[in-house]
Amino acid sequence: MKITVVGAGNVGATCANVIAQRELASELVLLDIKEGVSEGKALDMMQTSTLLGFDTRVIGSTNDYSKTAGSDVVVITSGIPRKPGMTREDLIGTNAVKGVVDSILKYSPEAIFVIISNPMDTMTYLALKASGLPKNRIIGMGGILDSSRFKGYLSQAIGCPATDLQGIVIGGHGDTTMIPLTRFATYMGVPAADILDAEVLNKVAADTMVGGATLTGMLGTSAWYAPGAAGALLVESIVRDEKKVYPCCVALDGEYGQKDICIGVPVVIGKNGWEKIVEYKLNEEEQAKFNKSADAVRSMNKVLVDMKLV
Ligand SMILES: NC(=O)c1ccc[n+]([C@@H]2O[C@H](COP(=O)([O-])OP(=O)(O)OC[C@H]3O[C@@H](n4cnc5c(N)ncnc54)[C@H](O)[C@@H]3O)[C@@H](O)[C@H]2O)c1
Repeated sequence: MKITVVGAGNVGATCANVIAQRELASELVLLDIKEGVSEGKALDMMQTSTLLGFDTRVIGSTNDYSKTAGSDVVVITSGIPRKPGMTREDLIGTNAVKGVVDSILKYSPEAIFVIISNPMDTMTYLALKASGLPKNRIIGMGGILDSSRFKGYLSQAIGCPATDLQGIVIGGHGDTTMIPLTRFATYMGVPAADILDAEVLNKVAADTMVGGATLTGMLGTSAWYAPGAAGALLVESIVRDEKKVYPCCVALDGEYGQKDICIGVPVVIGKNGWEKIVEYKLNEEEQAKFNKSADAVRSMNKVLVDMKLV
């Protein structure tokens, strides 16, 4: 397996580091436009290999896509992160991933793409439309991170290990568009709603929705450890053909009542990319929230038309 991570900044380098440590590829290319940065980070990572005991070969590349040739999976994290007060949507013009996808496809026509750059739902839609690739090969990562944050806050409220919890966040990857599905959250099979007061559970959901903004306020830039790890786990399910169910941003064609949009829903992830959408039976209130979220994502996607990107 060969994996490329585009963007050697906080999220890209962290994601690459987890990929290397988990030996998800024999070769891993880290590419960035900043001269020398990806080479330096790749070399630094390689110098942890004897300490941590992995043998993934990590290679840096300053914008030379020929080094990415033959990649099976490509993770795109290039662009700028948000600063305090910015929404993910403010990044739309700067982070357009079209050029990156085109450059990758020249050398890796069979690659499966994992899109992390924000605004992620719109960037995923752009990657799909601009590339014309089969929809299963374009996967946006947001819901895995948001679900991890959801389970983190839930574990604090219940007082249990987050790993004993089931919990999922669907919808757009925005502070107001994501939908933590509190009704489906369970602790060892027991509904979280039977354990926590409605008020506490609602606060868990609200904290989840602003989870990214909370960290941006603390760090002055967006977070990277959990986003990088979430991206790497998604890659792991592809390269190991694990068939894990993760909430990911994928193209809908009538599922969950929506079409012509990329948005977060639970999907089976395996060697072909996303292989199947898992349809939860949403109640009226949840479906209404999902529809509203889709409207917001769709109106963001319109900017791509205005910018003549699709
Ligand atoms: N989807 C998610 O869950 C999630 C979570 C966190 C961050 N993000 C997003 O990920 C992106 C990266 O965040 P970060 O914190 O790593 O930012 P960062 O500034 O640390 O790194 C971004 C890197 O991309 C590089 N870059 C810019 N344009 C490029 C291009 N055309 N080709 C190659 N490299 C290029 C920059 O030189 C920089 O090194 C941002 O858009 C951020 O909003 C998404």
